[in-house]
Amino acid sequence: MGNSNANSATKKAGIKTAMITGSAKRVGAVIAQTLHQAGYNVIIHCRLSRQAADELAAALNSERPDSAKVIQGDLNIETVYNSLIEQAFQCWNRLDVLINNASSFYPTPIGSITLDDWNNLINSNMKAPLFLAQAAAPYLKQTQGNIINMVDVHGQRPMKEHTVYCAAKAGLAMLTMSLAKELGPDIRVNGVAPGAILWPAGDGPDGDMPEHTKNLILERTSLKRSGKPIDIAKTILFLIRDADYITGQVIAVDGGRSINI
Ligand SMILES: NC(=O)c1ccc[n+]([C@@H]2O[C@H](COP(=O)([O-])OP(=O)(O)OC[C@H]3O[C@@H](n4cnc5c(N)ncnc54)[C@H](OP(=O)(O)O)[C@@H]3O)[C@@H](O)[C@H]2O)c1
Repeated sequence: MGNSNANSATKKAGIKTAMITGSAKRVGAVIAQTLHQAGYNVIIHCRLSRQAADELAAALNSERPDSAKVIQGDLNIETVYNSLIEQAFQCWNRLDVLINNASSFYPTPIGSITLDDWNNLINSNMKAPLFLAQAAAPYLKQTQGNIINMVDVHGQRPMKEHTVYCAAKAGLAMLTMSLAKELGPDIRVNGVAPGAILWPAGDGPDGDMPEHTKNLILERTSLKRSGKPIDIAKTILFLIRDADYITGQVIAVDGGRSINI
């Protein structure tokens, strides 16, 4: 008991460590950079984007040696959940923050939804966050740590033809509250719900979102512009570093999109 208290005190004092899923590129990469700049060691998780993840880690390590590592795994494969957390912990023998950022996103119009779609969208957006949180909880408890779930304003209000994605994000919002209830007082659990930050990438059907759709979204955003990944990253930093009395909340960072949907 005495030893474990001493161990925990040492951990509170050392360099904090954050694992960010799906952080090789885009919003996740900016979260990793921002936390790194704030003094955290970062674990960049990727699935397919290994090269981008390695390049990001190399850039961060050139600023501060031994401060960024890469781990890889497909969140569709259930057996990776525990092993990813073990790998993350073993990087620096501690874990302070888990950010569930990885996400699949594509339309699933009713009439075309397959079980593969269901599994793919639910796995990355809801199932993996839960099982990663469960595996990470004992380590986060030692450091009085944090979990951040990346939700979506469309977890509250549906986006047409995205039933499975929206349901998964709605589930993730509930998981945020539920985990906060169960993991307190040692671990705080919060969510960030972005609005239009970066338009969908890739070669999926939403990859090239038509200009008129983008304009419609911005028209229905009070601030009349899209946000930037740094807006998300700064909110996360606030939640994990400065917001000691906030848990179980999902904060919309959406320029007023959710009040206009
Ligand atoms: N961009 C926005 O404006 C916006 C709006 C609302 C909500 N959000 C939420 O904010 C977060 C970040 O957004 P984003 O646009 O930057 O995300 P993104 O680029 O669409 O996806 C982030 C990463 O998720 C990883 N990923 C997807 N499926 C995976 C799987 N099965 N296993 C492991 N990794 C998987 C991919 O990693 P690899 O490339 O390594 O395969 C991908 O690079 C997401 O949770 C998203 O839902 C974003």
